Amino acid sequence: MSLVEQINKQNVPQHIAIIMDGNGRWAKQQGENRIYGHYEGVNSVRAVVEAAGEVGVKYITLYAFSTENWNRPKEEVDALMELLVSTISAETPQLNKKNVRLQAIGNLNSLPPACLEELNESIELTSKNTGLTLVLALSYSAKWELIDAVKQIATQVKNGSLAIEDISEKHFEQGLCTKNIPDPELMIRTSGEHRISNFLLWQLAYAEFYFTEKLWPDFRKDDLYEAILNYQNRERRFGKTSEQLTQP
Ligand code: FPP
Repeated sequence: MSLVEQINKQNVPQHIAIIMDGNGRWAKQQGENRIYGHYEGVNSVRAVVEAAGEVGVKYITLYAFSTENWNRPKEEVDALMELLVSTISAETPQLNKKNVRLQAIGNLNSLPPACLEELNESIELTSKNTGLTLVLALSYSAKWELIDAVKQIATQVKNGSLAIEDISEKHFEQGLCTKNIPDPELMIRTSGEHRISNFLLWQLAYAEFYFTEKLWPDFRKDDLYEAILNYQNRERRFGKTSEQLTQP
């Protein structure tokens, strides 16, 4: 049986978050410069989006550019921004064809105007699609997002529209970039690194983590299916005991 056939369609994570890592190392292995790795990484993005849609995943969030990535050499940052613009522009018709809706999270106003424009256009053009939602984390940092949410709460308390004792998880979540998106059940990181790197710190509270040695440009459809199968073999207890889960 192929990997995809082994997946239990009743227990597919509705949201998968991915830290796409290892593009630079992959390029180095090929004797190429780092940017070549990012270009090949786009082929993995395409494959994973297709695979996720096919098995019924509802949301996929890709960590495409962190706030910390602005500190990379200018040449690499410029190339990544250009790659984002050209990929989003070229892929939008395909996204529509596959019924994929594009969204973005992060400090989007810090993106170059051309990038933001292309992004907003694609978000608008795909907004009516009802299949998979592809969320790009761009200029994203979870600490930035959390502080921003705190500022929103503090403003509401200051202007009297919110009492301190009424602050709840639900309230707090309204201040996050992901306010209308369910939390990921599965987080995948490629390239053998076992870190969370300032990604979705609040939203990953109960996620299952899956780490693979594969470098992102080598991560394709079957690798996503393997991660989902691995997830399906885990017991998610949410703080309860194993016995509590099996009792009627
Ligand atoms: C991490 O590998 C990868 C990135 C910082 C960029 C990822 C971006 C893409 C794959 C392009 C995405 C495009 C779209 C439209 C989503 P690294 O450079 O940190 O690799 P290294 O750890 O081996 O140096």
